[in-house]
Amino acid sequence: MRVLLAGASGAVGTPLTRQLIVAGHQVVGITRSLANAERLRNTGAEAVVADVMDRENLLTAVHDVRADAVMHQLTALGTMKVREAMQGTNALRTTGTAHLLAAARAVGAHRFLTQSIVLGYGYRDHGPHLITEDDPFAEPAPGQLGPAIAAMRSTEEQVFTADEMEGIVLRYGAFYGQDSFTRMIINLVRKRRLPVPTSGGGFVNFIHLEDAAAATVAALEKGRAGQAYNIVDDEPVRWADYLDALAAELGVRRPWRVPSWMLRAIPYLHTIMTTSMRVSNAKARRELGWATTVSTYRQGIPLVAKASR
Ligand SMILES: NC(=O)c1ccc[n+]([C@@H]2O[C@H](COP(=O)([O-])OP(=O)(O)OC[C@H]3O[C@@H](n4cnc5c(N)ncnc54)[C@H](OP(=O)(O)O)[C@@H]3O)[C@@H](O)[C@H]2O)c1
Repeated sequence: MRVLLAGASGAVGTPLTRQLIVAGHQVVGITRSLANAERLRNTGAEAVVADVMDRENLLTAVHDVRADAVMHQLTALGTMKVREAMQGTNALRTTGTAHLLAAARAVGAHRFLTQSIVLGYGYRDHGPHLITEDDPFAEPAPGQLGPAIAAMRSTEEQVFTADEMEGIVLRYGAFYGQDSFTRMIINLVRKRRLPVPTSGGGFVNFIHLEDAAAATVAALEKGRAGQAYNIVDDEPVRWADYLDALAAELGVRRPWRVPSWMLRAIPYLHTIMTTSMRVSNAKARRELGWATTVSTYRQGIPLVAKASR
């Protein structure tokens, strides 16, 4: 298929572009920068330069493009300015999705895949319940992360309800691999600046970026219209176990244990580390014929630690 990929130069977009081309698809990447357009062309993709938040600019840029499918893999999380990152990402998931759906119609696409996150099930302790795609997404509650939940719901709803468009949603777990978040966590663990709650924290569902990209290729080829797929690895892990294993692999002392309330001093950290969920990837395995190659953090941590040396 010919795929118009928004976010082709990003954390998941980079391995995704490579894997799509290897699988025999053609990729037209959208980027705001001439330098990234050049990089994309060097990997065998085509590139268009456009700002997805500017509807007219986007539609003009894709005027001569034809594609079978559009993928939305955009975030603004590449900055350390937390408020800007969250607000920018929310805008890309609400307004950005609407603009990309207009672009999808303009290029003649009939399939649209969008990035979502398992955290949309709700920032809370879900206990031992195994979460599947049949579980409802959370209602946006007041507070710091309410707009983030609303934006995740918005991208999903727009894609599912778009006329004559096969909408598919990828609900990814926490990415790790050769990306900026993983590098930041490795740096913090090395410096012992990332404390964990004495309780060990909640269960988190990771997905290695190469496996996330592979699942996305499979969803393009085999995903059913109107469906969401949880893209997580095979074993949820407590934050303390993950970070202890990372510290051991890096050869540094394990993170400090602190009472959970102390984490409130760092924006979002308390919510992230006390949210607990165990998410099933059974539907993606069954319907997409996809399987993890990095099945748990035990395989993934040596890979990311090695890449950081
Ligand atoms: N599920 C998760 O855990 C999750 C989800 C998302 C991100 N993250 C993490 O967040 C960090 C940043 O990841 P990321 O790849 O999303 O961010 P990134 O590396 O900053 O890349 C963002 C992508 O979106 C594109 N983009 C952003 N705004 C755009 C706009 N207005 N118009 C056109 N393109 C636009 C960028 O293109 P150009 O810059 O080339 O224009 C780039 O391809 C990574 O560590 C990643 O793992 C985690």
